[in-house]
Amino acid sequence: MKLHGKTAVVTGASRGIGWEVALAYAREGADVVVSARSENSLRELVEQITQLHQRAIAVPADVGEASDVEKLVNTAVDVFGKIDILCNNAGLLEIGEVDQLTVAAWDRVMRVNARGPFLCSQAVLPIMKAQNYGRIVNMSSGAAIRCAAGYAAYSASKAALNALSLTTAIEVADYEILVNAMSPGYLKTAMNPDGTRPPEDAVPTAVMLASLPSDGPRGRFFRFEEEMIVIPESPQIDWTK
Ligand SMILES: NC(=O)c1ccc[n+]([C@@H]2O[C@H](COP(=O)([O-])OP(=O)(O)OC[C@H]3O[C@@H](n4cnc5c(N)ncnc54)[C@H](OP(=O)(O)O)[C@@H]3O)[C@@H](O)[C@H]2O)c1
Repeated sequence: MKLHGKTAVVTGASRGIGWEVALAYAREGADVVVSARSENSLRELVEQITQLHQRAIAVPADVGEASDVEKLVNTAVDVFGKIDILCNNAGLLEIGEVDQLTVAAWDRVMRVNARGPFLCSQAVLPIMKAQNYGRIVNMSSGAAIRCAAGYAAYSASKAALNALSLTTAIEVADYEILVNAMSPGYLKTAMNPDGTRPPEDAVPTAVMLASLPSDGPRGRFFRFEEEMIVIPESPQIDWTK
C-alpha cells in the first residue's frame, strides 16, 4: 500500500473524480478526510471507506469560505493528528464567452477553482512545515493550456491554479513538501457529461502524486502519470530585465 499510515484531505469528494480519489487513497492505506458541501454524499463515502477498513470523516465545507476551510483543517488535525496529503480537487465550471459571461459567473468560478486551493494550501502548509512532510495534489485541467472558446473563467482559474502550484512548490523548497498539479483527462462526470473516460482514470496520477518519494518532482504538471511541460524553463531570460 502506497499511502499506509498517511492522512489525506480530499476536497470536492462528494462525487466524480474526488469521490474516486478519496476511495483510492483509502485503498492505498490512508485515513481520509472527505469534504464538499453535500453532506449526505460525504456520509455515504465515509461508509464505503470504513468498509475498506480505513478511518474516514466527513467535514462539509465550502472551499471558498476561509472559516469553512479553517474548520476542515482543524477537524482533520484534531481527529488524525496530522495532514500528509491535500488533494485540491473541488471545482466548478461555468461556460460563457468573454463578452457574454457575467461578472458573477467569473467570480464563482475563480472562488472555487483558485481561491479554494489557495485557502486550503494556506491552511495546511503550517502543519506540513511543522512535520516536514506534505504532498499537495492540485486538480488542474488541460483547459488552462487549451483555452477553448467559452471557457475563459474556467481556463483562467486553472491557469491560476497552475501558477499557485509552482509558486507554492518554490516557496517550500526547503521542506519535504511536494506540490504538483495534474490534468485528470476528459472524464465523464456531472461537470463533464461528454467525458470519454470514467472518473477512475484520474486515480493513478492522483495516487502517484500523493505518494511521491522525497526526491520526487516539485511544481510540475502531470496527465495520465506523464509529465507535461506547461511552463517551459527559460534560463536564457532574465525576468528582472
Ligand atoms: N471531468 C473532467 O473531465 C475534468 C477535466 C479537467 C479537470 N477537472 C477537474 O476535476 C475536479 C473534479 O471535477 P469533476 O469532473 O469530478 O466534477 P463534479 O462531478 O462536478 O465534482 C465537483 C466537486 O467539487 C465540489 N464543489 C463544487 N463547488 C464547491 C465548493 N464551493 N466548495 C466545496 N466543494 C465544491 C462538488 O461538491 P458539492 O457540490 O457537494 O460541494 C463536487 O464534489 C475539478 O477541479 C475539475 O475542474 C475535471
